[in-house]
Amino acid sequence: MSLLDVQDLAVSLPLSLGLSGAFKPKTARRLEIFSDISFAVAAGETLGLVGESGSGKTTLARALLGLTPTQAGRITFDGRLRATQADFAQMRRTSAMMFQDAVASLSPRMTVGALLAEPLIIHGQAPRDLAAKVADMLHLVGLTADFAARYPHELSGGQARRVGVARALALNPKLVIADEPTAGLDVSVQGEILNLMRDLKTRLGLSYLIISHNLAMIRHVSDRIAVMYLGRLVEIGPTRAVFAQPLHPYAQSLIAAEPLPDPRKRRADLAISGEIPSLLHRPKGCVFQSRCPQAQALCRSDAPVLRALGPNRLVRCHFADPARLQED
Ligand SMILES: Nc1ncnc2c1ncn2[C@@H]1O[C@H](COP(=O)(O)OP(=O)(O)OP(=O)(O)O)[C@@H](O)[C@H]1O
Ligand code: SF4
Ligand SMILES: [Mg+2]
Repeated sequence: MSLLDVQDLAVSLPLSLGLSGAFKPKTARRLEIFSDISFAVAAGETLGLVGESGSGKTTLARALLGLTPTQAGRITFDGRLRATQADFAQMRRTSAMMFQDAVASLSPRMTVGALLAEPLIIHGQAPRDLAAKVADMLHLVGLTADFAARYPHELSGGQARRVGVARALALNPKLVIADEPTAGLDVSVQGEILNLMRDLKTRLGLSYLIISHNLAMIRHVSDRIAVMYLGRLVEIGPTRAVFAQPLHPYAQSLIAAEPLPDPRKRRADLAISGEIPSLLHRPKGCVFQSRCPQAQALCRSDAPVLRALGPNRLVRCHFADPARLQED
């Protein structure tokens, strides 16, 4: 059974929250951020979620933990349906989020020690010897106990990430949602953080949902990959198989654009053109039709559904060809 199972999830926000002035509507119109999102994460699995900026990845992560309200769908975690605020509060004891901006997500006026103690105190799980527990948490992520006295602005990017990892692990979660865990870090520090996360996954039996723009990183760490475009999941499958043979035109473009050791091997015919449309102007029919090199008339009128094209592959495209699929 899956640790996390998501069915038909949708989030829309009141338009007035995101817009001001002349755009402020008189009626409570809503902007759909994403809809029809279905996927699962198995125990011990790492699922990588990729997609261009603005595709809805962070909003999805927040919705999974009950931090953003949903308008439709079901979230089942650890065998229980999560619907009420109480369900999500309970869920946040066994799942945790590493936020997109490591330093900004740490309150600047709290010491590292107070930041690490906070989740334990909030969830009523603070042990009598809190300082010793904080020292253990720092040790777990490769930092010495004296870091407890420092403030976030005194940390390097890599150290702030380590504190973010320690904070996420405070309540011994089963699932960690990591939003851009290596963004803004030097390549060598990125490697250190990924190694730490991998090591902790094995030692603690964690599952991860890792969100990133960094395709090479996602390829390296994920068992399966989910590709998101403008609020829709467009392809899901085993990482190796999807990278070897992406079936959705957007996944094809994304993977073709990945820097290769030999740039002559890059597929120019698959290069994606133009900007991602604004959510206010989400294309009718298929959301990718305004940029898809393979679009046809049907794509402009009818939205494709996410359909199984093999035992492990789901693709949202009218014309993706299952006959081409050679899963491994
Ligand atoms: N509170 C809000 N009000 C209005 N719009 C919002 C709000 N939060 C997010 N959005 C919009 O929702 C869309 C998705 O945002 P989100 O941050 O989830 O994308 P993302 O995929 O995480 O992007 P990035 O890769 O840049 O982190 C964006 O267009 C954003 O402007
Ligand atoms: S449904 Fe049409 S526009 Fe959408 S990805 Fe497939 S071919 Fe392209
Ligand atoms: Mg984001």
